[in-house]
Amino acid sequence: MSSPFTEKITSLYPPASLFEILIISSCQPFLEHTLSKYTAIKKAMFMNYHDNTLGDYLEFGVFTGSSFNFAMKIDKKMNQIFKRKIDTQFVGFDSFDGFGEIKPNDEHPSFKSNTFKVDKKKVIKNIEKSAKDQKFKLVEGFYQKTIENKKTSDYGINKSRIIMIDCDLKESTTLALNFSKPSLQEGTIIIFDDFNFYKGNRNKGEYCAFQNFKNQNPNIKFRRIFDYGYAGRAFIVANID
Ligand SMILES: C[S@@+](CC[C@H](N)C(=O)[O-])C[C@H]1O[C@@H](n2cnc3c(N)ncnc32)[C@H](O)[C@@H]1O
Repeated sequence: MSSPFTEKITSLYPPASLFEILIISSCQPFLEHTLSKYTAIKKAMFMNYHDNTLGDYLEFGVFTGSSFNFAMKIDKKMNQIFKRKIDTQFVGFDSFDGFGEIKPNDEHPSFKSNTFKVDKKKVIKNIEKSAKDQKFKLVEGFYQKTIENKKTSDYGINKSRIIMIDCDLKESTTLALNFSKPSLQEGTIIIFDDFNFYKGNRNKGEYCAFQNFKNQNPNIKFRRIFDYGYAGRAFIVANID
């Protein structure tokens, strides 16, 4: 026999109807993940404005410019909400020609060397439309040429407030983290879009690159702030000793 309490609880958790099941199952996983990526960038932007973390937005893995454009748009929104503007340069790094050579340790059934090859002219046009009065720079080329052994100052970057790592591979992520290191400050938020892929293997992908980076730089302390979407995770630089 059910009590009034059980009945109340049961009514709050009805069995999923066919309609509800259809909504979840018909929502394209890539779309669902992209929407959660936007939310992740929005949260990071909000935290920057709330805590007044100044600096640039760096993105490693621009592809069509979807998340890059969103970052510029939501930054404008934060200007309005907080009634102050953080002077920011949005800097995107991509070959616009896919991954190039994929090393054996980075091989993955979903990644081929030309996956993510894209028409750069179209990407620039879209970004220009979104940018309006915001400053942006796109650095075209493979990271092995554009950021390995390069300094952040070579691209006019001083401090970063958000680093979006969306380049999937361990090698690319390692290059991105090492390049960005001088720009890190208390409050920099690093978003890893593909943190949990590669079947959770500890020796692969963005996860492994970040573990190695932390081991090599024990003076930089990170705090995990949130997970999102299908494989994303974000950290904040808590302090640098
Ligand atoms: C998943 S896509 C980025 C998606 C994008 N952030 C978005 O939201 O639409 C990954 C991108 O990383 C770039 N990439 C990965 N490794 C790279 C490397 N070593 N050099 C240059 N670009 C690289 C690829 O060209 C690709 O465009």
